[in-house]
Amino acid sequence: MAISFDRENGIFKLDTINTTYVFKLDPNGRLAHLYYGERIGAANLNDLYRPQLRSFCPYPEGLDPLASPDMLPQEFAGFGAGDYRVASVIVRNADGDDVTDPRYAAHKIFRGKPALDGLPATFGGNADTLEVTMTDRKTGMDFILLFSVFDDADVVARSVRAVNRGDRPVRLRKLASCTLDFASGDLDFIHLWGTHTRERCFERREMLHGIQKISSQRGLSSHQHSPNFAVAERSATESSGLVWGVEFVYSGNFAIETERDQFDALRTQTGIDPETFEWLLEPGESFQAPEALLAASTDGLDGMSLRFHDAIRNHLLRSVWKDRKRPILVNNWEATYFNFNTGKLLDIARDAAELGIEMLVLDDGWFGRRDIDNNSLGDWFVYEKKLPGGLGHLVSEVNKLGLKFGLWFEPEMVSRDSELFRAHPDWCLQIPGRTRSEGRWQLVLDFSRGEVVDYIFKEMCAVLDSANIEYIKWDANRHLTEVSSVVLPPERRKEVFHRYMLGVYRLHEMLIARYPELLIEGCSGGGGRFDAGMLYYVPQIWTSDNSDAIERLKIQYSTSLFFPCSTMGAHVSDVPNHQTGRTTPFFTRGVVAMAGTFGYELDLNKMTEDERTMIRTQVAEYHKFNPLVAGGDLHRLTSPFDDPHQTIWMTVAKDKSEFLLNYVQSRVLPCGPQLSVRLRGIDEKRTYVNSADGKKYSGEFLMKAGFPLPPFSWNSDGESMRFHFTEEK
Ligand code: DGJ
Repeated sequence: MAISFDRENGIFKLDTINTTYVFKLDPNGRLAHLYYGERIGAANLNDLYRPQLRSFCPYPEGLDPLASPDMLPQEFAGFGAGDYRVASVIVRNADGDDVTDPRYAAHKIFRGKPALDGLPATFGGNADTLEVTMTDRKTGMDFILLFSVFDDADVVARSVRAVNRGDRPVRLRKLASCTLDFASGDLDFIHLWGTHTRERCFERREMLHGIQKISSQRGLSSHQHSPNFAVAERSATESSGLVWGVEFVYSGNFAIETERDQFDALRTQTGIDPETFEWLLEPGESFQAPEALLAASTDGLDGMSLRFHDAIRNHLLRSVWKDRKRPILVNNWEATYFNFNTGKLLDIARDAAELGIEMLVLDDGWFGRRDIDNNSLGDWFVYEKKLPGGLGHLVSEVNKLGLKFGLWFEPEMVSRDSELFRAHPDWCLQIPGRTRSEGRWQLVLDFSRGEVVDYIFKEMCAVLDSANIEYIKWDANRHLTEVSSVVLPPERRKEVFHRYMLGVYRLHEMLIARYPELLIEGCSGGGGRFDAGMLYYVPQIWTSDNSDAIERLKIQYSTSLFFPCSTMGAHVSDVPNHQTGRTTPFFTRGVVAMAGTFGYELDLNKMTEDERTMIRTQVAEYHKFNPLVAGGDLHRLTSPFDDPHQTIWMTVAKDKSEFLLNYVQSRVLPCGPQLSVRLRGIDEKRTYVNSADGKKYSGEFLMKAGFPLPPFSWNSDGESMRFHFTEEK
């Protein structure tokens, strides 16, 4: 068992392959966090428990003053009972106060990992789980904490379920999924903020005193902040030093709260955003909070990412497509926008087939009477004017060319100008008496209502059954406002955000159950819902509407902090780029897109002969390199946030027998230095051959002296090089 309990000292120890997580059941029934870091043995762990008398730190009446929870690093902190820092849980009891004081009641350790009802979560039988039940004695509330570790992964998965075992209703006002405390707060905080077309900007700053919060109250995890963060020792870098990461397995409102306290210690809380949440629990009812994944590494951000990547690839992605090579697709969005018909699509498909592309994806505009984006969402029937003969005809023609076919949906939305809205105006989120806010002229369907989700499922099935559709792109192009459901009583209205998310997850479940082979790509105006929750249902997510290769270097760099390359949708698009006006060489666009799922987003009919030749080469390279990129270990060798001139990254095969080194010169530095780049993750003792010129290098040389990067023959912005090295046999 990777989980043990030392009865004498009350110490729980969880071991992953390379890390150890430790906490202690203290004499007052609290769970004192002791250690999370590189794997260590059981000796001396109890020395990490250091209760200390401190003034202005309350302790329970009549008990030892050393028992103050206010200076104790904890696993699950109550509210209003002596700990003034950000709480893990707040329950308003039937008497009207919020004091919540969870104490240990029982625990068990077992093989396996339970699924979480209605929610995404990591899975796998090769896991051990510790279940600790904490009880608030006054209300009878139980909090069931789960900690799981896998035999073959370096993460700890945590979640918590609240059960009202009392005899009066209570209101759950906050239930964080993961509390991670640190004895010292002299640390850096790393998180990803952003906006549409500039998702996940890397930001690192000193952890300051007081409470800071990163959150989404938009109903989706959002472009604006990502539901994950890292805490790093000040000296930690990309490749060295101690780093901890937390990744929330949820796609809706979240909050990451950090508090560097009076003693310079640090508390972090990760969970559903408490400001926009409340849940009524009648006696006997329970509430399951989502899962959080934790990783720690002394190999810097790189090490943390590798641990998340493997855990996600092996224990979170569940689509049958997770390890399959994804078909190279061409998406018509940037090629035609709304201006297409069957003839134009078939022209693109013919070129695609000729060039070795494997799937045509028909994006927005195929349904209702949608020629612009202000109508028809919810009317999931074919726009015959554009597609005479319907999807059946189009798809069979596309299939005849040897291509698969994929289709865009925006299942959660409805246009005010739509048949669906006219028939069911009460089906969207709204508050009677208030003006509804629109975004992109659309409203959000009330997915907290079962019948709305069932209706959309039926509509989607009718489309999916009408033709051989093998992929869908699930988009969501606005955030939630006036969040309320006309069918819920006032005392349950603050449940709508989470109930909405449960509805989205249920629709995914139903689609997967009925169409297990369907490849689904997540999307929300680009990468506005790129989170670990979604990846339980979809194996890939469109990373950004910004398809400019140079901009993508940043977006893909920071997305890769928490997510593997196999999950990042990335396409070669046209130049000048539609989002930035920049012109980047075709080769470079291929290099950057090949760091993701790969495809095209341009009008193939307009390609020159040179470009067609390059597409053929890229197609062949994708088939050759994708297994390495999708399944290997990614090492970010430079950061585009620190270095405006070049971005370099590599992927190493798990058996270290080959690697791919990518070098993009984002901006020329005139008369710049001669660069060598020290490689990582390869075998020092092996010899590697550069396939371009047959030159041999020892692994030791490449890691210590570095690979001498040749100069560009045409030294201009956006040029790039790629090197494939294989082990000498
Ligand atoms: C936003 C997506 O990110 C785009 O790729 C495209 O599908 C549009 N929506 C269509 O409306």
